[in-house]
Amino acid sequence: MPARVCLCFSEHFSSEAVKSLQVEMIGFVFLLRLLVSIRPGAEALDNGLALTPTMGWLHWERFMCNIDCDKDPENCISERLYMQMADMMVKEGWREAGYEYVCIDDCWPSHQRDAQGRLQADPKRFPGGIKKLAEYIHSKGLKLGIYADVGKNTCAGYPGSLGHYETDAQTFADWNVDLLKFDGCFMDWTLLGEGYTNMSTALNQTGRSILYSCEWPLYEWPFKKPNYTAIRETCNHWRNYNDVDDSWSSIKSILDWTASHQDTIVPPAGPGGWNDPDMLVIGNFGLSHDQQESQMALWAIMAAPLLMSNDLRHICPRSKGLLQNRRIIEISQDPLGRQGFCTIKVDNFEVWERPLSHKRLAVAVLNRQETGGPRGLVIRAVPGWKICDPQCNVTQILPEYRELGVQSPKSKVVLSVNPSGTALVTLTPISSRFNMYELQKQETIL
Ligand code: GLA
Repeated sequence: MPARVCLCFSEHFSSEAVKSLQVEMIGFVFLLRLLVSIRPGAEALDNGLALTPTMGWLHWERFMCNIDCDKDPENCISERLYMQMADMMVKEGWREAGYEYVCIDDCWPSHQRDAQGRLQADPKRFPGGIKKLAEYIHSKGLKLGIYADVGKNTCAGYPGSLGHYETDAQTFADWNVDLLKFDGCFMDWTLLGEGYTNMSTALNQTGRSILYSCEWPLYEWPFKKPNYTAIRETCNHWRNYNDVDDSWSSIKSILDWTASHQDTIVPPAGPGGWNDPDMLVIGNFGLSHDQQESQMALWAIMAAPLLMSNDLRHICPRSKGLLQNRRIIEISQDPLGRQGFCTIKVDNFEVWERPLSHKRLAVAVLNRQETGGPRGLVIRAVPGWKICDPQCNVTQILPEYRELGVQSPKSKVVLSVNPSGTALVTLTPISSRFNMYELQKQETIL
């Protein structure tokens, strides 16, 4: 059943109800003003990469540490898996939609380093080696990502990079790798900063452009508030919170953590450095279609890397359409590069807003009530609606595309949102001067 949204010009939201919504939003409006006035203070890692959030595919959530290629050759962690995903990315329009990086996660290496102390791929599962795989991925117009760990071992127990940062950075550069996801298991937390910084320097010194994806703050939070200025100078994106899994409760917990830490984590995000709420699990088993739309909309609002972890060989057309929705991807990749945030929580709705280029605004209204049917939120209750004075053009993107036309502060538009679903709209302000011009033009035509 396609999700339904109705555009209701209804009177069932009394002016009292709107007033009480406005009272509840005051605190959030304050936060909105505060954040709008803050630019990323710190310099981003100066490698010219990730000027907009990274897009691609990463194996972990869907394929985990499946190394049994005898029993499960289709799904085990092997060169074949990445080659097939790359083929699909070209054939099925993913590359064209903007998905670029094909990324290996844990469980790719051999348990032993080679005689020169270098990491090596498991010879049985990667007979051609990583360099050959990179060549294949590049021949498809895509980029290759790899995984390592700042500590003694990776989270799944493979060799870590501690004591080998320079060697490993050089090995990845020699293999023509384009991205490194650097995990933080098996590391004394007091040495995390030093480890992540040293690897950043080592990557830089190879002279190859390697996008650097960190988990530094995730491993530091249990002990101290991370220094996001340093993190932004060191990494192109950084994980803050737990691993995503294929469930709505996991998505909700990530959103809740993000909203409750937004004053700390939103200001440092911007071109070159992004918060990473982890992979998109759209196209798997655990989320309803409404919930998949919520993940896609909110990840775009959060300016999150869009790294899918799913099986591109078997994905339903509806999930594929959502992941390739160009209007949502445009929000994600907006050149202004500001991360959105939660501006109001009211009546079991959460409103998230992201400032876009040309003074536009993206607004996601998430219905957190998981009982009953669709519920409506009057659009003028959205804090950022003030940009619609005197008028703005409203485009709805989710759950269905529709032009809602020119609206003004007293608009009666109500967004109807399914339980655990999200309505996504953009607001484009129209200046009064422009209106006058339009009016004159129309009068001339008439
Ligand atoms: C950690 C990371 C995950 C994944 C696994 C691999 O849990 O947070 O994203 O890389 O390790 O073992």
